[in-house]
Amino acid sequence: MAWLEGSALGHAMRNSGVWTYGLVNLTHILGIASLFGAMLVLDLRLLGAWRRVPLAAVARPAVPVATTGFIVAATSGLCLITTNATEYVGNPFLLIKFPAIALGLANAVVVSRLTAWKARETRDPTPHERRHLAVAGAISLLSWLTAIASGRLIGYW
Ligand code: HEM
Repeated sequence: MAWLEGSALGHAMRNSGVWTYGLVNLTHILGIASLFGAMLVLDLRLLGAWRRVPLAAVARPAVPVATTGFIVAATSGLCLITTNATEYVGNPFLLIKFPAIALGLANAVVVSRLTAWKARETRDPTPHERRHLAVAGAISLLSWLTAIASGRLIGYW
């Protein structure tokens, strides 16, 4: 944390005007909103909502919006944390947030390797595959909701 705070990015964040932190925080929230908004629709579809809409039709816009949102959230989050990194030492919500993000990402990697996901453009999943996708959708929702809740609570510790 001391290294992050003493980094060039940390210095730049602290010395580039009173609005910088607020604007980067706004960017963080826009990234989170894009990530979670897209994942909410995709995860609910995996859980069985809107069955008549093909999974491929939901995934086509949701995946790039969520990916872009994550990149924006991670980049802006890194800027936020370097600003006063040592203040977060011992903050339990940070220790909940990062494993939750890691779980959300690992779950996305697992889904991307499932046969049913790879074949989504050509066929519907079998009932067995549908159950696997639903479990993945539930894990995803839980991990992103945990990341959001703990991220919001960091500042209240
Ligand atoms: C991956 C790199 C990320 C880093 C390094 C990071 C870091 C941070 C930091 C330092 C804060 C400010 C905490 C404070 O002092 O109040 C914050 C706020 C927050 N983060 Fe992240 N974050 C990251 C990604 C994410 C993701 C992926 C999510 C959600 C899915 C998320 C959700 C939040 C939320 C909800 C807040 C509170 C915003 C506010 O109320 O102003 N973060 N994050």
